[in-house]
Amino acid sequence: MSSQLNRRDLIRGAVGWATAATLPAWPARLRAEGAHSDVRLGIIGMGGKGSAHLKEAAKLPGVRIVAICDPDTAQTDKAIAALEKAEYPHKVAAYQDLRKLLEKKDVDAVIVATPNHWHALAGIWACQAGKDAYVEKPVSHNIFEGRKLVEAARKYKRVVHHGIQRRSDLGQKEVCEYIKSGALGKLKHVQGAFFRLREDLGKATAPVALPPTLNYDLWLGPAAEEPLMRLRFHYEWHWFWNTGNGEIGNNGPHQLDLARRYLGDPLPAPRVLTVAGRFLYDDDAQTPNTGFIFYDFPGAPLIHEFTNLPIKPGVKAVGNYKGVKEGAVAHCEKGYVAGAFAYDNTDKKLEEPGSTPEKKKFKSFPLDNGKLHLPNFIAAVKGRDLLTPQSDVEVGHLSTTLCHLANTSYRLGKEQPSAAILEQVKGCAPALEAFERMKSHLADLGINIDEKKAVLGQWVQYDAKREVFTGENAGAANKYLSREYRKPYVVPDKV
Ligand SMILES: NC(=O)c1ccc[n+]([C@@H]2O[C@H](COP(=O)([O-])OP(=O)(O)OC[C@H]3O[C@@H](n4cnc5c(N)ncnc54)[C@H](O)[C@@H]3O)[C@@H](O)[C@H]2O)c1
Repeated sequence: MSSQLNRRDLIRGAVGWATAATLPAWPARLRAEGAHSDVRLGIIGMGGKGSAHLKEAAKLPGVRIVAICDPDTAQTDKAIAALEKAEYPHKVAAYQDLRKLLEKKDVDAVIVATPNHWHALAGIWACQAGKDAYVEKPVSHNIFEGRKLVEAARKYKRVVHHGIQRRSDLGQKEVCEYIKSGALGKLKHVQGAFFRLREDLGKATAPVALPPTLNYDLWLGPAAEEPLMRLRFHYEWHWFWNTGNGEIGNNGPHQLDLARRYLGDPLPAPRVLTVAGRFLYDDDAQTPNTGFIFYDFPGAPLIHEFTNLPIKPGVKAVGNYKGVKEGAVAHCEKGYVAGAFAYDNTDKKLEEPGSTPEKKKFKSFPLDNGKLHLPNFIAAVKGRDLLTPQSDVEVGHLSTTLCHLANTSYRLGKEQPSAAILEQVKGCAPALEAFERMKSHLADLGINIDEKKAVLGQWVQYDAKREVFTGENAGAANKYLSREYRKPYVVPDKV
C-alpha cells in the first residue's frame, strides 16, 4: 500500500521548510570530495520525532526522502500532507509495514524513530536488507538486542548511528577536552540531571479502543500483546515496560551519555543502584517519575537525578542542579563545568585571561545541541565511514546500557523506609546529597517518604566485557537482559 506525491519543481524556502541560509554547514570533508548523488532516505515511525527528522532531512542537501512508514496511516497521511504543503519535489511512498519499505531497492538508508521496543529489530532488519540506519535513542529496549544491533552493523558493513545527538555537539567536545586537560584538577564526580514536567497520565478503567487507522500487530512488533490500558495511544508507551524504558531510558540516554563522555567513555559501571518511585500521580504508568541512580564507577561516581514533578504543588516549574535542567555537571577538585560555563567551588563563573571588571570574559563552551548529528550520518553514509567516533552504534549501545542497568536495579527492588535507603548511600557523599534533595523535593510536594515509600533498587553487578550480570542476584537480574519476542518479530541470536 503506498500513496505517492507528484514530482514538482523544488521551491526552496517554501512554507515551513528551511531556506539555504538556515541549512547546517555541510561537513568540510564532503565538500572537498565534491558532488555525490543523493542519499535516498526512508523514515520509519512518523510520530513526533519522525516528523522532526522528516522536516530536517527534507532541507538537507544531498538527501532525498523516498519513503515513510508507520502502522498508523493517520501518521503517514499527516506527513504526506506536510510534504505536499511544503511542495516537496520528490516522490515519497508511504508504507504501514517496515519490511515492505526495506524491500525497496531505491532506499539507501533509514531513520528508525519508532517506539523503543522496535529500535534494535528495525535496525537489524535494515542492515540485513543492505541499508544504513540512524537508530533513535535508546538504541535498544534491552541489552541483548543492543549488542545484536552492533553485530549486525559490523557483519553487514552498514553505517549504523545512534540518535544521541549531543555526541555531535562541538561545544561538548571542548568540555570533554577541558575536563581531560586537568584545568580544574582531577574529576571527582559527575552529576546527571533531568528535570522536566510531565502530567498525570490518568487511569483507564477498561481496555481502551485502538485508533481505527492503526495496524496494532505491526505497532506491537516484538512486544507482548496486551489490552491497551492507557488513555492516549501515541507517545505514552514510554511509561510501560512492554514498550518503553521510563524516563531513565527516554531522556536518560542523553544525560548519561554526556556523563559517560565526561568520565572518559568507560565501559558501563560495574555496580549500579537506583532509588526512585512514581510519586504524586495515581495513574496507569508503571515507570518511576522521580529518583536517582548511583553508578559506582571506579575513580569517580556518576549520580543521575531525574524528576517529572514540579517544585511545588500547582506550580508549573521544575528544579535544577547547578542551574542545569537537562544535562550533566562535571565536578572536579577546583570547580565544575555546568552547561556552557565553568565555575569555581563557590559557584562563581571562571573568567578568561583578559577579563576585566568592566568587560567580563567568562570561560565558556559553544554548545550547539548536536545540530550536525543528522548531517554527520549522511556524510558517513556517503563516505562509507563505518565507525565515526561521534555517532557509532556501539557508543549508543554502551550509553543505553547505563539506562538498562538502572531500570534492572529498580525492577528488582521494593519499597523501603528511608533508613534502609540511607544505609545504602551514606558511604558516597554525592549519592547521599541526591537522596536528601529527593526527600526535600518530595516534602515540598507534601509527600513524606516514610509514608509513600520510594523503591530501593537492588545493587546490580555488571560484567561489561561479557555483558551479563554477576553476583548474588545475577539470576534475577539476567532475566532483564532480553525479553520474550512475539513471533515473527524476533531478534535472532545470530544476526
Ligand atoms: N533524539 C532525540 O532527541 C529524541 C527526541 C524525541 C524522541 N526520540 C525517540 O524517537 C522515538 C520516537 O519517539 P516519538 O516521540 O516520535 O514517539 P511517537 O509515539 O510520537 O511516535 C512513534 C511512531 O512510531 C510508529 N510506529 C510504531 N511501530 C512502528 C513500526 N513497526 N514501523 C513504523 N512506525 C512505527 C507509531 O505509530 C508512531 O507514529 C523514541 O524512541 C524516542 O526515544 C528521540
